[in-house]
Amino acid sequence: MNLITEGAVGVDVGGVFYNPRMRLNRDIGVAMARALGIVEYLDAFSASGLRGLRLIREAGVEDMTFNDVSPTAARLIEENLARNGLQGEVCCKNANVLMHERRFQAVDLDPFGTPSPFLAAASRSAEEYLFVTATDTAPLCGAHLASGIRKYMARPVKAEHHREMGVRILLGLAARELARMDKGMEPLLTHATEHYVRTYLRTIPGARNADISLEKMGYLEQCPRCGGWWALSGLASEAKGTCSRCKERTLLAGPLWLGPLKRNEVLDRAIPGLPESASAIRLMKLCRDELDCPMYHDHHRLCRRLGIAPVRLDRLVLALQDSGFRASRTHFSGTGLKTNASREELEDLLVGLESKVGGDLQKGQDRVASGARLPET
Ligand SMILES: C[S@@+](CC[C@H](N)C(=O)[O-])C[C@H]1O[C@@H](n2cnc3c(N)ncnc32)[C@H](O)[C@@H]1O
Ligand SMILES: [Zn+2]
Repeated sequence: MNLITEGAVGVDVGGVFYNPRMRLNRDIGVAMARALGIVEYLDAFSASGLRGLRLIREAGVEDMTFNDVSPTAARLIEENLARNGLQGEVCCKNANVLMHERRFQAVDLDPFGTPSPFLAAASRSAEEYLFVTATDTAPLCGAHLASGIRKYMARPVKAEHHREMGVRILLGLAARELARMDKGMEPLLTHATEHYVRTYLRTIPGARNADISLEKMGYLEQCPRCGGWWALSGLASEAKGTCSRCKERTLLAGPLWLGPLKRNEVLDRAIPGLPESASAIRLMKLCRDELDCPMYHDHHRLCRRLGIAPVRLDRLVLALQDSGFRASRTHFSGTGLKTNASREELEDLLVGLESKVGGDLQKGQDRVASGARLPET
């Protein structure tokens, strides 16, 4: 026996999978389920049942179905339900079988590694919500190319925004699987954290809704020399082939999801319901406040390419906003920046800022020589 406490439940995790580092994922899952008012939920890969138990107790889910293919896990879930005085149905099936047999308001996939083999059945089973965790970040982000292509029928390209690339490749497969079931999708929250990607999708029945979500699919064309990129909308879009700036042959990533990654009204409802977890609150707020456009620039890499010293990222965001652009930080990376400025416009602004900071510094040093303090950069 290995008793642990998480949120408002105490659970035996002895002999089954348990990852304490996934607490943030489960904390956010509870807040999202509560904000969405979910009453019926399939936790298709339950292990100890920890997630589902917390959803019953902390999010008020009334009709919880636990499932795990392992009989040891199924037995433990029964015991953990009794231990907490809670009720739910426990199944011991291959998740694909269960999801082909039955429909649920919300379906949650948290398998080992890739969710790809389960997305078809889950797309059929999920009537209103589909939540997915993927821990196969190397194939998703382009580090294991062949496996990424096999699992996601898409080609990732290794780039400075690889974390967002992985997210959009995963969402791209989800959109296509749902479309095959005549369903559209709307991402409510998507985050890439540590070694995994997590997405909360609303599924919207109807062939027309499937068409609308497929319109948000496309490709990302990318220049390996200058690092510039541009999105190509549509599954049958045509690539330029060469970079108009440096004439280098471009690389093509996709097909991937180019649409929004979140819906702020839902996040505003979910954030107050987060358990007392500073990291979950910080992450959700970062996601809410980030610009919802593909992709992000890595500020430090950009400065290295330009041979200049980076200014503070907040200062760069403000400078872009003062110049009439939209700009924000991103949860994907501490040095990441999202903006609607083009790569050239961003580079020009950075070079301008650098020379201004350089000038200010020189002035500051002159003042230091005469006893004054250095200006803040
Ligand atoms: C990553 S763990 C789930 C962790 C759990 N959601 C949590 O938050 O603690 C994956 C679980 O899926 C189960 N599993 C693996 N393949 C399965 C399948 N095809 N159908 C159902 N369960 C499966 C494993 O026995 C394991 O307990
Ligand atoms: Zn180029």
